[in-house]
This record gives sequence, C-alpha cells and structure tokens, in this order.
Amino acid sequence: MLNFTFHNPTKIIFGSETIQKLNELVPAQARVLILYGGASARKNGTLDEVKAALGQRTVQEFGGIEANPTFETLMRAVDQVRNEKLDFLLAVGGGSVIDGSKFVAAAVPFAGDPWEIMLAHGANVQGALPLASVLTLPATGSEMNNGGVITRKETKAKLAFMSKHVFPLFSILDPTKTYTLPPEQIANGVVDAYVHIVEQYLTYPVHGMVQDRFAEGLLQTLIELGPKVLADPKNYENRANLMWVATLALNGLIGAGVPQDWATHMIGHEITARHGIDHARTLAIVLPSLLNVQRADKRAKLLQYAERVWEISVGDEDKRIDEAIRRTAQFFELLGIPTRLSAYGIGVEAIDTLVSQLAAHGMTTLGEHRNITPEVSRKILTGAL
Ligand code: NZQ
Ligand code: ZN
Repeated sequence: MLNFTFHNPTKIIFGSETIQKLNELVPAQARVLILYGGASARKNGTLDEVKAALGQRTVQEFGGIEANPTFETLMRAVDQVRNEKLDFLLAVGGGSVIDGSKFVAAAVPFAGDPWEIMLAHGANVQGALPLASVLTLPATGSEMNNGGVITRKETKAKLAFMSKHVFPLFSILDPTKTYTLPPEQIANGVVDAYVHIVEQYLTYPVHGMVQDRFAEGLLQTLIELGPKVLADPKNYENRANLMWVATLALNGLIGAGVPQDWATHMIGHEITARHGIDHARTLAIVLPSLLNVQRADKRAKLLQYAERVWEISVGDEDKRIDEAIRRTAQFFELLGIPTRLSAYGIGVEAIDTLVSQLAAHGMTTLGEHRNITPEVSRKILTGAL
C-alpha cells in the first residue's frame, strides 16, 4: 500500500539567461560566499556572471572544492564563513561543489566536530545556513535534494549525509552553462542519473504505477538522449532535457513511497574512495553485476524493466533478464564508460579491502531487502572483475 509524505522545497529556475535572476533571489542584505571547484567556472565565465548578478552585496569566494569533495578542504570554508560572518552560501558547479556547500552549511552552526555529521549521516543536524546553487553539470540531482557525499582524505572514508535543512533554497539550471563539459563528464552524468533511477525503481513491485511509469520514461529519455548529447554537444534542446532528467532522477519524486536499493552507490563509494575512480564509473561497474547477483529478489521488476524499457518481452524469462542486464552494460559502454573493474586496472587483490571498508562503514545490510551482506558485496565485486 502506498503511504508517503513528499516534500521538496527547492525552487528551480530553468533556462538560458537565468543567472541574472540571482539579483531577485538572493536577499539584498545577504553576506554571500560563492563556492566553486577548480578552474571551470572561472574559465567559462559563469563565475563572473554570478558576481555581476549579485551586484553590491558583500561577496567572498571559496574555490578549490575538488571532485569528491573532501572534509579537509571544506573545513577551510567553514572557518572562512565563521570568521567573516557570512550568512548565505551560493554553490557554483556540479554535484561536488553543491554537496560540499551543503556540508559547510550544516557544519557552520554545528556545535561539535563536524565530522560527526557524516558519522551520523546527518541525523544530528539541527540547522544550516541558507544555500542555493547554480548548476553546471547535470548528474547528481544535488541541486534539488537534501543529500551530500563527503570524503575524508585522511582515512579514505566517503560517507553520505541527508538533512531537511540542506535542501537548496533555489537552483538555477541554465543548460548553456553545460556546453563546456568534456564528453567524459557528460557520459558520467547520464550514467549517474540512470543509476539513480534504477536504485529507486528496480526493486520489487508495490503498485506504484506513477512512480514506475515515470521512472521508465526517464530511463528511456536517457537512453535516447545520451548518444545524442555526445554527438551534438551544442544542441540546446538535448542539453536542456538531460539537465531536467538528471534533476528529476533524484529529487524524491520517483522514490516517494517505493522501496529503494542504493547498494550500487554504497559499493561504488568504496571504489571511489580507494581507487579514485569517478563516481558514475563505479556505478557502471557495480550495477550490472548487482542486478545479476540479486536477480531472484528483483525478478518481477527485472522482467518489467526488460519489457518496458528495453522492449524485451518474448522468450525464456531468465534469458530476458540476461538480455536486459547485457543491454544496460552495453548502453554504458557505448557512452564510453567501461563496466569492468579490470578495465580500470583493478584486480581480484583489491576486493578484500573494498569488502572490509564496507564493513568498517556499517554497510553490512544493503539493498531493498537489507540482505546484501559483505559476502554478497564480495560476490557482486567478483562478478564485476
Ligand atoms: O572543478 P572544476 O574545474 O569546476 O571541474 C569540474 C570537475 O572536475 C568539472 N565541471 C563541472 N562543471 C563543468 C565542468 N567542466 C567544464 N564545464 C562545466 N560546466 O567536472 C568535474 C566533475 O565535477 P563533479 O561536481 O565532481 O561531478 P558530479 O556532478 O558528477 O558530482 C560528483 C559528486 O557527487 C556525489 C558523488 O559521490 C561525487 O562526490 N553524489 C552526490 C549525490 C547527491 N548529492 O544527491 C548523489 C550522487 O549519487 C553522488 O553520490
Ligand atoms: Zn550517484
């Protein structure tokens, strides 16, 4: 029986020439910290546009937030906000910058050691500074959700947190700001959004007709769009659709009231933390193997996925499932993303450490049935060699 509360307070301003709206959206008296990553936002002019739109407000900058943002770097931003009495955070970038800004927003008023936020996965967050974003990379959905993933360099721990206090107040989505993305990041974004949808859809049926059809439509849109965006990088309509799919993939809507998996993500985070592989690439490695290992639990949904997403509806059921998994991996490969650990130079000797890291981070009962123990994770990783 469907039973849920759905609440998403983030306002979306979508389209080209929308950065100038910052002037209406950010309070006139705000003391703003603009947070950004490496060089991209400055190089492509987004940062200058943002600063121009903020006009006479007090504005400081914090650059250098890395892909897979680290606690160590973000704590310097926390110090800056505290010392300079800044009161509004504006993230300009992709998921890493937005996630990092969410952490800073929660850490500034936090009483104890802010790493405690990550250890409690956000349950201990009681407030946060207001934050908003200007998105430059469609992928994570961070622009319209309340989650963040932060890495502690020192211990190679990559942990996720969630809190209702860190929903962005608003996010500006201007598809033209994604034109400068290299093809690998576009491909990463397609795969990340795809796997976000699968994590909320490919579990077991609960009569969530709207959620199912919506998820299937988003998956099909990505299958259609992925190759087009790569082939024709400056096509506004394709960029715009990709940006909106990625946001809807993880803004809570398709996941409302339905079981969710997230084991692919949790296993993937350990691979990133240990081997530095891009987030989406770890998902492309783990997902096909996970679907294969969990095929009994996911049987009904795998058959539905095969039929409705890949139009595979005749023949032996197990063969249909095999084919749907094969087509999934083939889609990732077509985008230029390898789906095997060996393609990244990772061999069987790495698996023990990955499994023990999962255990060390409490990831011992993963999946929609909580039955992905470390031993099952080992099977999944071994299947992905
Ligand atoms: O650092 P700069 O120079 O800005 O370059 C970035 C970065 O190197 C570049 N980039 C971004 N926008 C660009 C651009 N280059 C050219 N033109 C542009 N317009 O892209 C590189 C990757 O950026 P990053 O933000 O790391 O990528 P993504 O958006 O894929 O974010 C990945 C992070 O999000 C987390 C991941 O774990 C990872 O740490 N996730 C967050 C989620 C959430 N908050 O809900 C869910 C996801 O599952 C994911 O775990
Ligand atoms: Zn993801």
